[in-house]
Amino acid sequence: MKLDEFLRLNVRDDLARLTTAISQAGLTVWENIPLQSGVLTAVNPSGETQKAIDVYSNDEFTEAILATGTVAEVASEETAEPATGKGSLSVGMDPLDGSSNVETNNPLGSIFGVYSRKLPCSGRNLLGALYLTYGSMVTLTLSFGKGVHRFVALRQGPETSFELMGIDLKIPERPEVYGVGGSRKDWIPPVRGFVDSLEERGLRTRYCGTFVGDYNQVLARGGMFAYPQLTSKPRGKLRVLYETAPMAFINEQAGGYASDGRRNILDIEPDALSGTSPAYMGSASLVRELEALVSKAD
Ligand code: AHG
Ligand code: MN
Ligand code: MN
Repeated sequence: MKLDEFLRLNVRDDLARLTTAISQAGLTVWENIPLQSGVLTAVNPSGETQKAIDVYSNDEFTEAILATGTVAEVASEETAEPATGKGSLSVGMDPLDGSSNVETNNPLGSIFGVYSRKLPCSGRNLLGALYLTYGSMVTLTLSFGKGVHRFVALRQGPETSFELMGIDLKIPERPEVYGVGGSRKDWIPPVRGFVDSLEERGLRTRYCGTFVGDYNQVLARGGMFAYPQLTSKPRGKLRVLYETAPMAFINEQAGGYASDGRRNILDIEPDALSGTSPAYMGSASLVRELEALVSKAD
């Protein structure tokens, strides 16, 4: 089944139009990654030096999303102020996730949260979330509250379309892999102890340095992804509106649980557009176990 037909049958019209626009812009971004791999001098609102691909993807997605006429605003990890439109939805996006991995050709991604309210607001206001993965395949993983579904870009002649590849994806009960960002020496003690216990239980490390790429492995094999609270970064690194809340929405739809170490990530009310949170997500039993350890250590 093609993406457009799936959307026509299952998703309300404005969300469907938004998804189609994101999927098409994603193909353009993917094709331009080799051409946009330079480093710029500008920094984003999180103080990170921008790559050409960060700015290029931000502009491509913003233009495509505004052109649908469905959104009032597009807030982005790469811009201080949201772009404004004539619709009613709010989009929070990480237009290029993992841009530090462009040179090494690791998987990259783009993450989108579609909110019903003006940003910043909690993930409880998400109507849907989507992420693109630029890896050995280009895939679009999405949920609008009725399960997680995946589409893969297939070139057939001059056309490339997204074809349904997985329906109602669920995180396997038996956890197999884990991936934790930052440096081990900076992890807070409960995280260090918990990771040691995962090794004892035979889980294997799968970490590529891109949130989307690392999460895909947990969704497929069971386990946990974390960008934890660090002694140097008490509020972690990943941005709630643009990264952790949309991924937490998908993770929960796949039967998992996502925590900032003390509560469900979807309950966080970010105080700023680029507010961050620690992120632990994946198999519900594992993440709840870690949440209890972090809360107890407070
Ligand atoms: P972005 O490129 O959008 O800033 O995201 C990078 C993030 C995330 O993708 C990944 O999990 C994390 O940075 C890796 O951080 P470290 O390089 O500190 O491990
Ligand atoms: Mn990111
Ligand atoms: Mn990014």
